[in-house]
Amino acid sequence: MLHEGQRTILQAARRFNTVACGRRFGKTTMGLALAYYGAPHAPGGLGRGLDVGWFAPSYKLLDEAWRSAKAFLKAMIARTDAQQHRMELRNGAALDCWTLEDEDAGRGRRYGLVIVDEAAMARHLEQAWTAAIRPTLTDHAGGAWFLSTPKGRNYFHALSLQAQQRDDWNHHHAPTSANPHITADEIEQARQTLPERIFAQEYLAQFLEDGGGVFRLVTAAVDTGLPVEAHWARDAGDGRAYVIGVDWGRHEDFTVIIVIDAKERAVVAVDRFTQIDYAVQLARLRALHERFPRAPILAESNSMGGPLVEALQRMRLPVRAFQTTSASKAEAIEALALAFERGELRLPMVRWLIDELLAFDQERLPSGSMRYGAPKGGHDDGVMALAIAWSGICTALRPSFVAANAPGL
Ligand SMILES: Nc1ncnc2c1ncn2[C@@H]1O[C@H](COP(=O)(O)OP(=O)(O)OP(=O)(O)O)[C@@H](O)[C@H]1O
Ligand SMILES: [Mg+2]
Repeated sequence: MLHEGQRTILQAARRFNTVACGRRFGKTTMGLALAYYGAPHAPGGLGRGLDVGWFAPSYKLLDEAWRSAKAFLKAMIARTDAQQHRMELRNGAALDCWTLEDEDAGRGRRYGLVIVDEAAMARHLEQAWTAAIRPTLTDHAGGAWFLSTPKGRNYFHALSLQAQQRDDWNHHHAPTSANPHITADEIEQARQTLPERIFAQEYLAQFLEDGGGVFRLVTAAVDTGLPVEAHWARDAGDGRAYVIGVDWGRHEDFTVIIVIDAKERAVVAVDRFTQIDYAVQLARLRALHERFPRAPILAESNSMGGPLVEALQRMRLPVRAFQTTSASKAEAIEALALAFERGELRLPMVRWLIDELLAFDQERLPSGSMRYGAPKGGHDDGVMALAIAWSGICTALRPSFVAANAPGL
């Protein structure tokens, strides 16, 4: 049984459809129903005896759909080929599942219907659609559905605009709240904890400008009056409190150390280097700490960070461990994003840090939770050091901490 939001969309179906919905609206569920039944007054559907192609951006998402399809179509299946992700039904129609990482996905097939799930997350959507997928619909004058939560103004957005203008296309839109099986409480909680911009994209299904990245108002936070180089800043001894955040480098990554002035809410020192030699990393951090001798250090303690944190403790530096898990990372990143949205943190004009912040991205996992990180090939050490330092500031602003550690704050 489809819910009313889903039925409304299917009733308004045309041959080609873009569907922008919030997370957990029921896109994939609706897609599976579509794959079998098709939509009223629109072409295709396994139940009508025509093959269907299902496309997903990644293997993980594909596998999720494949397993759901197997359960959903169980009574009708004649044969499945798990290797090819192909399912033949007793009426002779077949469902093929493809990942869009395969550039030739769909080539050579003839479909009565294609469904592209999470279309906005596919990197080569335009190429895949125009060169490989669209031609599969020619023989049967088949239909197409692009189901997705938006991700900035990429090709899914372009298709959605086009769908609003052309006769054989339709664009549909629904927020997460249109799914009656998701409680209002759950959505309200997301609204309160997520940065506004992520909530707007993920739950209200809005197409955001500038890529739909995590951090907004980063450039507005840049204060050209702030010093840029680490050695320009030091504790002025005027009772201000500072927090130092550290993200250790490994392999090709940078070690980044960031100092935030708790009172000014400003980044006052930044150090970045690639030597992963323990002694070098410790010496650089120690040198910076000498400029801010009263500042607590919050350092990542995962893997080789553990021994480094212990070494700092042996040096009698006031260090505390920041254990990065997907949950602690998400919490620190979301707090940092909120700080930018509220204009609570100022940054010096450090180009690489600003670039990292602007490029920083989020990805939805099949489980529905978020994973944050740099896009492939990019760095996020600066973002992490900043998020760790800011999490220290958030702790430092608690009255109990201030009384014990920073009475001058
Ligand atoms: N018509 C329906 N009846 C009952 N439950 C539904 C219906 N549609 C969706 N759901 C439930 O809502 C939840 C989300 O559904 P689904 O996974 O299809 O959404 P989605 O929009 O694809 O989510 P995501 O953004 O995580 O990919 C699931 O628990 C699903 O079982
Ligand atoms: Mg889905």
